[in-house]
Amino acid sequence: MLLLIKNGTVVNPGDQTEVKADVLVEDGVIKKIAPRQSVRAERVIDAKGCYVMPGFIDMHVHLRDPGQEYKETLETGVKAAVHGGFTTVVAMPNTKPVVDNEDVVNYVHHKAQNIRLANVLQTGAVTKGQRGEELADIEKMVEAGVPAISEDGKTVMNAQLCREAMALAVKYGIPLLAHCEDANLAGNGVVNADEATEKMGWKGISNSVEDVILARDIILAKETGAALHLCHCSTKFGVRMVEFAKQEGIRVTAEVCPHHFTLTSSDIKENDANYKMNPPLRTKEDVEALREGLKSGVIDVIATDHAPHTAIEKGEGMSRAPFGVVGLETAAAITMTELVDKGWLTIMQMAEKMSYNPARILGLDKGVVEEGKPADLVVFDAEKEYTVDPDSFYSKGRNTPFAGRKVKGMVMATVVGGKIAYQE
Ligand code: DOR
Ligand code: ZN
Ligand code: ZN
Repeated sequence: MLLLIKNGTVVNPGDQTEVKADVLVEDGVIKKIAPRQSVRAERVIDAKGCYVMPGFIDMHVHLRDPGQEYKETLETGVKAAVHGGFTTVVAMPNTKPVVDNEDVVNYVHHKAQNIRLANVLQTGAVTKGQRGEELADIEKMVEAGVPAISEDGKTVMNAQLCREAMALAVKYGIPLLAHCEDANLAGNGVVNADEATEKMGWKGISNSVEDVILARDIILAKETGAALHLCHCSTKFGVRMVEFAKQEGIRVTAEVCPHHFTLTSSDIKENDANYKMNPPLRTKEDVEALREGLKSGVIDVIATDHAPHTAIEKGEGMSRAPFGVVGLETAAAITMTELVDKGWLTIMQMAEKMSYNPARILGLDKGVVEEGKPADLVVFDAEKEYTVDPDSFYSKGRNTPFAGRKVKGMVMATVVGGKIAYQE
């Protein structure tokens, strides 16, 4: 089976080139990248005026399967993924039951393989039941194919246990993806601790809630030699600490989410829990630091923390609704609009942060557009303008703070393993 993607501009972070060329795909592999190819292919995509980029890799999503299929299923989750240009997603383990053993890992991987739409990689929890008391069966989960371990949704508060987990991550050659939140400092805060939110009478979450654990984990990574990946960084001081850790030669990488580099706590609409996520929307100063960090390379990755919840749950209001926003179907457009169009990132850097770097961190042979490599690709129209409409989402979750926002940048087609998984 031949697929020809014609007339696009190929963006390849592998060798930092941006060239006008046709991409010929055969049996799931990129066969030839060259201009004006006149091959008879079964499928043709006209990518005129579009970028042909390595398929986006979201190393931070919540797919809610098993156990909370009313919020999202693997099927709706991967449909949302390919709609958003993502060809690989990494699922966090805070499902019901928690992914803390190989059986649940196998369940997710097998189910995703049967859906055959996007690559789904399941992470393993650090502790049994994410209770923070004893380590999960990490060895067995590694054998089952987890690309990383993570306690996402919370922090392993026991530093000794966290250090043991890092030692195992070193042993098995996988990264630890850290959700940094000191449970005691967080208390029952729901939004950023600042003047704007205090006026609304909501309990605050200070930057220290995140920064304290971020510092701790960097120190533990230094001692153990573990590859530490910091999830959803949201504070200015956090960016500074990551920069310092990198200068020290510590194996640390960091991600930010589109909502954190776009919105501040002042954008929160009265009692609208679609603006509630963990970590919370911070201040202008923090947003600026995240953007600077992305630009300079201190921040390696843009990930969504796609966290679907139902409208009923989100209707409970700021104080009671669960944390989390969906992101798979808006990430590329928000990144284009807020970062590339405004000059913070080049299109190449966007490809690095949304594909190449996640692939390197996870040890995947992906994230490039090169002959002989798997054909995971996205055709992206950077000029197309539209308004975000949650009703157009494939995700069951409609909980986005970007509803009604004017954006630029639309996914025109997503190719996974040589097959068209989504086309506009
Ligand atoms: O906003 C969030 N939602 N942050 C988390 O850490 C967990 C996630 C979820 O699972 O809903
Ligand atoms: Zn988290
Ligand atoms: Zn998360």
